Amino acid sequence: MKLPFLVLSTLWAVSALDVKVSNTGGNATSGYQYGIMFEDINYSGDGGIYAELIRNRAFQGDAVFPSTIEPWTAVGNAKLSLQNLSQPLSSALPTSLNVAASAGEAGISNPGYWGIDVKLQKYTGSFWVKGSYNESFTASLYNYLSNETLATVQVPSKASNSEWTEHAYTLTPEIAADNVNNSFQITFDASAADGSLDFNLISLFPPTYNDRPNGMRKDLMEALAELNPSFLRFPGGNNLEGNDPPYYLKWNETIGPLKDRPGYPGTWNYENTNGLGLIEYLHWCDDLHMEPVLAVWAGFYLSGPVIPEDQLQPYIEDALNQLEFITGDTSTRYGTLRSSLGYPDPWVIKYVEVGNEDNLGGGGPSYEAYRFQAFRDAINEKYPDIFVFASTTDYHFAETEDVGEDYHEYTRPDYFVGQFGFFDNFTAGQKTMIGEYATVQPNTAEGGGVDWDQARLPFPTWIGSVAEAVFLLGAERNADKIWGAAYAPTLQNLDSTQWVPDLISFTADTARDVLSTSYHAIKLLSAHRISTVLPMDTLDFGPVYYVAGYSNSSNSYIFKAAVYNSTETVDMNIAFEGVSEGAEASLMVLTAPDAESYNSLGSDVVKSSVTTLTAGSGGAVSFALPDLSVAVLEVKG
Ligand SMILES: *[C@@H]1O[C@H](CO)[C@@H](O)[C@H](O)[C@H]1NC(C)=O
Ligand SMILES: *[C@@H]1O[C@H](CO)[C@@H](O)[C@H](O)[C@H]1NC(C)=O
Ligand SMILES: *[C@@H]1O[C@H](CO)[C@@H](O)[C@H](O)[C@H]1NC(C)=O
Ligand SMILES: *[C@@H]1O[C@H](CO)[C@@H](O)[C@H](O)[C@H]1NC(C)=O
Ligand SMILES: *[C@@H]1O[C@H](CO)[C@@H](O)[C@H](O)[C@H]1NC(C)=O
Ligand SMILES: *[C@@H]1O[C@H](CO)[C@@H](O)[C@H](O)[C@H]1NC(C)=O
Ligand SMILES: *[C@@H]1O[C@H](CO)[C@@H](O)[C@H](O)[C@H]1NC(C)=O
Ligand SMILES: *[C@@H]1O[C@H](CO)[C@@H](O)[C@H](O)[C@H]1NC(C)=O
Ligand SMILES: *[C@@H]1O[C@H](CO)[C@@H](O)[C@H](O)[C@H]1NC(C)=O
Ligand SMILES: *[C@@H]1O[C@H](CO)[C@@H](O)[C@H](O)[C@H]1NC(C)=O
Repeated sequence: MKLPFLVLSTLWAVSALDVKVSNTGGNATSGYQYGIMFEDINYSGDGGIYAELIRNRAFQGDAVFPSTIEPWTAVGNAKLSLQNLSQPLSSALPTSLNVAASAGEAGISNPGYWGIDVKLQKYTGSFWVKGSYNESFTASLYNYLSNETLATVQVPSKASNSEWTEHAYTLTPEIAADNVNNSFQITFDASAADGSLDFNLISLFPPTYNDRPNGMRKDLMEALAELNPSFLRFPGGNNLEGNDPPYYLKWNETIGPLKDRPGYPGTWNYENTNGLGLIEYLHWCDDLHMEPVLAVWAGFYLSGPVIPEDQLQPYIEDALNQLEFITGDTSTRYGTLRSSLGYPDPWVIKYVEVGNEDNLGGGGPSYEAYRFQAFRDAINEKYPDIFVFASTTDYHFAETEDVGEDYHEYTRPDYFVGQFGFFDNFTAGQKTMIGEYATVQPNTAEGGGVDWDQARLPFPTWIGSVAEAVFLLGAERNADKIWGAAYAPTLQNLDSTQWVPDLISFTADTARDVLSTSYHAIKLLSAHRISTVLPMDTLDFGPVYYVAGYSNSSNSYIFKAAVYNSTETVDMNIAFEGVSEGAEASLMVLTAPDAESYNSLGSDVVKSSVTTLTAGSGGAVSFALPDLSVAVLEVKG
C-alpha cells in the first residue's frame, strides 16, 4: 500500500533541539522490534548461510530445473553421466552420477559454490556409492591455482553392487589456502572397480555454528548474532510461494534425512536442495535466541493460480499439520513424526504469517475474500494463542478491522524520511510488522517512491541507511502498534546475485563478508532496546527524528535519533525526568564520509564513536549531532 506521499522539500537550518522525556505514561513495546527476514534467494541459503560446501551434491532436479552434472568435472580419464538407476539411493533422490573408467586414478571434482574456503580446521563429509569396489577412495581438497593437495584421506570402500552404502570421512588440512580456488575430489583405483561406480549425495561441511550437524556457516551466523535479532521471519518471501503448480515450498519435504529431501524449484531461478529445512530454521532461531515467525503456504502461486475456496481445505490442514509437527507432543501424529526424527522437544510458535505479499500477482481478491480468513480461523481454532497475521496491509478483512498485517516498503531515502509519521495513524489493534524494508534507489529531483524499471543500488548507501533509521524510529515511536521490523533481503551471494541491495554480502571466502552501512545502523539501534516508549514534551521532527524510552533490562533511559537534511550540526539537550544530576551517560554516534558512500568487498566507511557524558541538573545531557548521523544516548536510571 502506498499512501499519497507528502512532498517535504526541506533542508533544515535548525541548530538546537531541547527535549524533556517524561518518566511516566508511555507504551510498553513488544520487545521484538528488530529481527531478520530470510529466504533462500540466489544462493543465500544453499551456498550461503547453510554451510554445505558441495554444489549440486545430489543431482536434484525436476521439470523446471532438470538434473545437471554441473559443476562436477572428471578426474583422470573418467566419463561422467547422470543415470536414473532402477535402484536409486531414495525416491527423493532418483538421479545419480555414474563414473566410468577402466584404469588409473579416476574420479570427480567439485569447485563448491564459487569456491571452497580451506582453513586449518576439521571438515566432515559423506558420500554414497553403489558398485563393486574393494579398495579405498581418496577424498581430498585441492587448490587449483597452486596445484597443491591441501588435505587428503583414504576412505576404505564399503561399496556393494546390491545396495547403496554411505561413506563418512573427515578432512583436516595441513595447509590453509589463501584463496578459495579449491576443489573437492573423490578418486578411486579404476582398475579395481568393475567398469564404473555410481555416486550420490556427496557432502562436505566445515565446522558449523554451535557445531550443529547439517548446520550453518559460522561467520554469517556470528554477523547476524551481532545484530541482536529478536525474530526470524522464514521461509519467505517469494520462495515460499512457488512460481507455478505443483511447486511450492512443501514443509514436509524439507525434514528428515537429507536423502529423503527431493529439493524444490525455488522462485529465484535454481533448484533448492532443501537441506536448509524446517528443523534447520528452528535451530537457527534457537541458536540466535530468536522468535520464529513462520510463514505458511496460502494457496497462491506467484504466476497467478489460486486454490479455489472449495478446494482449500487440504492446504489448511497441511498448515495445521506443520504446526503440529513443530509444536505437538508425542501424543500427536506429527509430534510423533518430529520425535522420530530425533527432536523430541517441541518448539513454541507465537507468530504465523499467512502467505507472502498476497496483494501481488493477482492473489489479492481471493486473499481478501477467503484465503486469509480461512487459514487464520482454522489455525486460531486449534491454536488460540498464535498471532496469525496477513501478508499485506492492502485489505480490510470482512468481520474485523483488527487484523495484524505485514507492511513492506522498498523506496528512496527522502520517501522513507517522509514516512516517519506514517505509523502514527495506525490503530493499536492492527499490530503491524514491517516484514521487509530497504532503501533501494537514490533520491531523484522529482522525489517519490521506487521505480521498478530502474536499476537498484548494488549496496546500501549511508544516506539510505540513515533514512531507514528515521523510518525505524517512526515505527519504534509507535511500538504499541508496530511489533517488528526486518531489513530485506538479509544475505547476498556476490557470486550469484539476483536482488540488490542486501544487508550482508558474502562470497565463499569467509574472511570477506560485507557488513553494509544499514547493518551498522540496525546493530546500533537493536543493541539498545526500549521496553517502554516514553512521552516527550517536544515533537519537533526534522532534521532530527527521535524516540525516547526506558529499558527495564538495563535500567536505563534511551534516546535514539537520526539526523537527515540538516545544513548544520544540531546542539541537542535531552533531559530525562527519572535521571539525577551526575548520572553517567554514553553516546554512540555513527557517521560516514559522504551520503552516497557504501561498504563493498574490503571497505567499511562507517565511523563509530562512543563518548561518556554526565547528566546536568534535571537529568539533562548535552551533545551535538552532525547531519546524516544515527545516534543512541543511554543514561543510567
Ligand atoms: C532534503 O533536501 C532536499 C534538497 O532541498 C529536498 O529536495 C528533499 O525533499 C529533502 N528531503 C526531506 C525528507 O526533507
Ligand atoms: C501510546 O499509544 C497511544 C495509542 O496509540 C497514543 O495515543 C499515545 O500517544 C502513546 N503514548 C506514547 C508515550 O507514545
Ligand atoms: C531421470 O528421471 C527424470 C524424471 O523422470 C527425468 O526428467 C530425467 O531426464 C531422468 N534423467 C536421466 C539421466 O535419465
Ligand atoms: C578464483 O576464485 C574466484 C572466486 O570464485 C574467481 O573469481 C576467480 O575467477 C578464480 N580464479 C581462477 C583462476 O579460477
Ligand atoms: C570385492 O569383494 C567381494 C567379497 O569378497 C567379492 O565378491 C568381489 O568380487 C570383490 N570385487 C572386486 C571388484 O574385486
Ligand atoms: C598447475 O597446473 C596447471 C595445469 O597443469 C598448470 O597450467 C599451472 O601452471 C600449474 N600451476 C602451478 C602454480 O604450478
Ligand atoms: C507433502 O505434502 C504435500 C501436501 O500435502 C503432498 O502433496 C506431498 O505429497 C507431501 N510429500 C511427501 C514426500 O509426502
Ligand atoms: C494522519 O492523520 C492526520 C489526521 O487525519 C493527517 O493529517 C495526516 O496526514 C496523516 N498522516 C499520514 C502519514 O497519513
Ligand atoms: C540467480 O542465480 C541463478 C542460478 O545461478 C542465475 O541463473 C541467475 O543469473 C542469478 N541471477 C542473477 C541476476 O545473477
Ligand atoms: C520489560 O518490559 C517488557 C514490555 O516492554 C515486558 O514484556 C517485560 O516483561 C519486562 N521485563 C521485566 C524484567 O520487567
